[in-house]
Amino acid sequence: MIILSIETSCDETAVSFVEAVGEFPNAKYEILGNALYSQIEIHREYGGVFPTLAKREHIATIVPMLEAATAEAGLKQDKPAPLSAEVVSKLHEVLAREHGLADQLVSYHNSYGLPPVNAITVTSGPGLEPALWVGVNFAKALGMLWDVPVVPVDHMEGHILAAAFDGHHLKPVTFPALSLLVSGGHTELILMRAWGEYEKIGATRDDAVGEAFDKVARLIGLPYPGGPEVSRLARVAREAKLPPFADLPTPMLKSDDFDFSFSGLKTAVRYAIGNRVLSDTDKQALARDFEDVVVKVLVTKVKKAIETLSVDTLIVGGGVAANTRLRDSLLTLATPQSYPDLSVYLPSPDLSTDNSIMIALAGHSRLNEGLSPESLTTLRADGNKSL
Ligand code: KG4
Ligand code: ZN
Repeated sequence: MIILSIETSCDETAVSFVEAVGEFPNAKYEILGNALYSQIEIHREYGGVFPTLAKREHIATIVPMLEAATAEAGLKQDKPAPLSAEVVSKLHEVLAREHGLADQLVSYHNSYGLPPVNAITVTSGPGLEPALWVGVNFAKALGMLWDVPVVPVDHMEGHILAAAFDGHHLKPVTFPALSLLVSGGHTELILMRAWGEYEKIGATRDDAVGEAFDKVARLIGLPYPGGPEVSRLARVAREAKLPPFADLPTPMLKSDDFDFSFSGLKTAVRYAIGNRVLSDTDKQALARDFEDVVVKVLVTKVKKAIETLSVDTLIVGGGVAANTRLRDSLLTLATPQSYPDLSVYLPSPDLSTDNSIMIALAGHSRLNEGLSPESLTTLRADGNKSL
């Protein structure tokens, strides 16, 4: 089957065509076409993602992304028949709040036609609601236009699937498995008893870890998104063996649960800076001190969960899974000296941050929850959706 997949939960507009042969979780996947537009440059000016601006950008770029993915997949049809006035008016109704999008979709259809798609998967949450709605309403419109079911997908489940994906197959997962989800909005430890069965055993009580990276980056004077920037400076500090800049706390390291807290750490960074004007080496050392503490806390809680719950598979998902220090530290857990039976699955760097491939994979696991074109009116975006 061919899946059209859409992701617009934050500042990436992503559309892809993925072919799945066989049943989940043993299917073979082929990425036929994949287009992604990052709005980072636009939001950088504001130091974070601005929801209404994100919505506007999704509206402006989702059809170009669909066109690019269709062309890459070689799914453009010859001489499509133009849409009837009745269908055009229906599309305008569904996309009433996405100003200008219905017209773009009509012109896409009139030159690309109807690709042989069997299902549409779309992120329905969590995320920024105005941004999510663009993808959700666009998926609705396509579902009606193409007469195919639409599968709403949880963004975080997508991050889990991305980590277990080897490019064509899902890696073998033994259950119960542990999943560490670390992104701009989430820091969670999830116990998975099977695919699709999730139990949250711990979470941040305040800031998410990606958010902490972004806020500390701002304190140091680095651009948004801060994670990669902080990480880059930290690496320089390690190579130069710079002495510590700050003695930062390790929040909730020894707490009797699987929870996290990162807002105090950010405040500690602010106090450590005080009124000082930071030199380049100060910034590097501070970035390294911060990253060390974050990784130490995450790894300690992961180890505790591995031991308490006797898991043999660790899945790490979300944008912060791109962090080299965290990746290396988690990979060394799966060594004969630590946990010899453990498999650690990390997403490839391009699938660590938001993308639509992961939404196709998660959607494929939930095809039975697909909404028929007739029942699409019940499809909603939910910014606070939880696994
Ligand atoms: O999953 P994601 O792309 O979007 C959300 O769903 O939130 O995650 C984005 C977050 C941002 O906070 C960004 O700073 C962080 O992931 N991030 C990183 C790295 N790359 C992205 N944090 C630390 N180190 C990185 N290399
Ligand atoms: Zn994400």
